[in-house]
Amino acid sequence: MPTTVVVGLQYGDEGKGKIVDMLAQEADVVVRYNGGANAGHTIVIDSGTYKLHLVPSGILNPGVRICVIGNGAVIDPDELLREIAMLEALGITVKGRFLISSNAHLVMPWHRKADEIMERLSGKHKIGSTGRGIGPCYTEKVARSGFRAEALRDPDAMRRRMVELMEDSAARARSPFSALIYAADGFQLDRDIQRWCAELGPYVADTDTLVRAEWKKGSRILLEAAQGTMIDLDYGSYPKVTSSYATAAGACIGSGLPPTAIERVVGVVKAYTTRVGEGPFPTEMEYCDVGERLRQAGNEFGTTTGRSRRCGWLDLPMVRYAAAVNGVTEIMLTKLDVLSGFEMFCAATCYKQEIIGGDKAKDMKIISELTASDINGSSGAYPLFKFYPGWSESIANEKDWTRLDKNARHCVEDWERHFGVRISAVATGPHRGAIIWR
Ligand code: IMP
Repeated sequence: MPTTVVVGLQYGDEGKGKIVDMLAQEADVVVRYNGGANAGHTIVIDSGTYKLHLVPSGILNPGVRICVIGNGAVIDPDELLREIAMLEALGITVKGRFLISSNAHLVMPWHRKADEIMERLSGKHKIGSTGRGIGPCYTEKVARSGFRAEALRDPDAMRRRMVELMEDSAARARSPFSALIYAADGFQLDRDIQRWCAELGPYVADTDTLVRAEWKKGSRILLEAAQGTMIDLDYGSYPKVTSSYATAAGACIGSGLPPTAIERVVGVVKAYTTRVGEGPFPTEMEYCDVGERLRQAGNEFGTTTGRSRRCGWLDLPMVRYAAAVNGVTEIMLTKLDVLSGFEMFCAATCYKQEIIGGDKAKDMKIISELTASDINGSSGAYPLFKFYPGWSESIANEKDWTRLDKNARHCVEDWERHFGVRISAVATGPHRGAIIWR
């Protein structure tokens, strides 16, 4: 397997967990390179259904030698300890094959508190954050005042820095959220530091050096993104985005591999669109029963927060934008089976936009390539839809392209033309084996 990055080409929740789990069957090393416990990856295999937030989905494949949380990700120690305990209770080996980058930042209890307060105070400007402390943690990373995982190697030094933050106003001035240490729910300085360091310290390593060494010796490396391109900090619908780089470029920053190492970029696209939280969603269908029907059929409820996802049709120009940003070399389509039973369904094929300085009523132009201002909703462009005939029989768990309903095949081929990128696989159910290779 060439060095491969897996990214989401929509707003997250495209079904990357299943694709990573499948590709990991051929990988030696899997690296999760961005985001934190705001992500939720659901993987269904014979032994059960697993929901992971931090540990790379590759851990479920015994053949994967090393699983890494890279320096681009942020780690909530309590959440990670819960996840490790859950995996070990299920008989999945974590010790000896799991590592944390010493440069990854730690999400502290006061970051979660800051998230909660900021969302509460933001009123109509709120982002709809998952409340996992992600924005505040990355804010402190950029402000150069955060705690890196390397702190887990030395509990005394970690304690000294925290006490300094509590007592020294000069130290506090450098750390945007440190005043909230006192308000952090349930945080107990000595108990928590001792536990985090004792239990997580042994996993901390200089993983970027290790990942580069594995690459040099020819190991098969899989880099796993969390979230999706449309909520990437720079390329998404800013400011309604997450605080990390969910795009393929983020894979290098977040893992330590150089850009020249990346050979294959797999973009994951769901056959319709969902979004959790606030922000523009041009093809949303919440004002009619389509949104609810997609939500129920696709079980569109958040893995992390349980929130209902907003649902709508596939947005082909948006995916094309995301495919270009990521330089995807192939697309894997997920959840096509969810469209079974729709007599007709839609996808946006282009956008209509007012001509600046023109007559609002009639001077419009059709655009098929979106720009950053179309993505963040400031250009006023809106989507135009194409109707597709549906299919009545379920296609769930289908594995054979030639046996797939002809209308389903036609829509995949049409979407492939719109994407300008080959659709190499079509997932037809949550189970690992429910996939058609084309
Ligand atoms: P935060 O990163 O938790 O602060 O959330 C910022 C925005 O990104 C919110 O709209 C969240 O709903 C969204 N978001 C964060 N993580 C995910 C994810 O894994 N899937 C989908 N949306 C996410």
